[in-house]
Amino acid sequence: MREGRASITAGGRAWTTLAPMSEPTGAARRRGPFQVGDQVQLTDPKGRHYTFTLEAGKSFHTHKGAFPHDELIGAPEGTVVRTTGNVAYLALRPLLPDYVLSMPRGAAVVYPKDAGQILAMADIFPGARVVEAGVGSGSLSTFLLRAVGDQGMLHSYERRADFAEIAQGNVERYFGGPHPAWRLTVGDLQDNLSDTEVDRVILDMLAPWECLEAVSKALVPGGILCAYVATTTQLARTVESIREHGTFNEPAAWETMVRTWHVEGLAVRPDHRMIGHTGFLLTARRLADGVEPPMRRRRPAKGAYGEDYSGPGSGSGRG
Ligand SMILES: C[S@@+](CC[C@H](N)C(=O)[O-])C[C@H]1O[C@@H](n2cnc3c(N)ncnc32)[C@H](O)[C@@H]1O
Repeated sequence: MREGRASITAGGRAWTTLAPMSEPTGAARRRGPFQVGDQVQLTDPKGRHYTFTLEAGKSFHTHKGAFPHDELIGAPEGTVVRTTGNVAYLALRPLLPDYVLSMPRGAAVVYPKDAGQILAMADIFPGARVVEAGVGSGSLSTFLLRAVGDQGMLHSYERRADFAEIAQGNVERYFGGPHPAWRLTVGDLQDNLSDTEVDRVILDMLAPWECLEAVSKALVPGGILCAYVATTTQLARTVESIREHGTFNEPAAWETMVRTWHVEGLAVRPDHRMIGHTGFLLTARRLADGVEPPMRRRRPAKGAYGEDYSGPGSGSGRG
């Protein structure tokens, strides 16, 4: 991408930036001095966050006084503002993980720790053609759009029109308008999936196994199916259904736990509180057409498909 120098004078300082001539969607709102329309995240002395949108002439009110938005407009990120009650607040733009946790919700969102895993383990790359369902509140859609970029494609399917509307608002607020790579369809994925030659499909829904036939048709050979499910019963049914379907390789399943730490002098220890459970992830890759899935090297654990097993494949003589 070509580059050009841009000079901005703001907050009494001159800023020179090496700015690409045409910036990726949303990038201009992620750097430089605060502008009208930017999201601002304030942190108070107790570490609590407050998020608002900058508007000329408005004031931000707290129970310890107020300050005018104009104090921040043109100021660099990392500025400290004081309310009329002399309480100091640190002002920064919210990062995407902050944004998705504070935005309006319809359905439960994919947490940043899982979104990071999905981007890495489903190998989402710039220019990728990705299908996603459901959209819920649009948390994962926003992460995916940032990763595929303006030259990629994200087609998101959501069965509930009210959730699709909330998600659209959240995504467009984050990028400062519509994203050129995004299409949003209201309807069930398994009945509406029209895309072909898709590189990646990400499912975050109650019953991913209902979508396997449609997903298998849409994916390119080598393409990745990634599913995010909340319970062990959903995980088991999804994995067994993928095996049974016969057009994917052996699925991999895992979960992530993030434990934050308190680091202060000699008191260096894990924090007392953590998010103990969000969901399980799995990935499987689309085989070439007509290929038999390779035999599993390891035999199933004794009793894994015993007489008590009633999941997919239980009627097909596996035991
Ligand atoms: C947990 S939410 C998704 C959250 C979303 N990934 C996010 O990060 O904000 C699950 C969504 O899937 C939708 N859904 C369930 N089954 C679906 C299907 N077969 N096709 C399309 N959407 C579906 C539900 O309406 C719900 O909004």
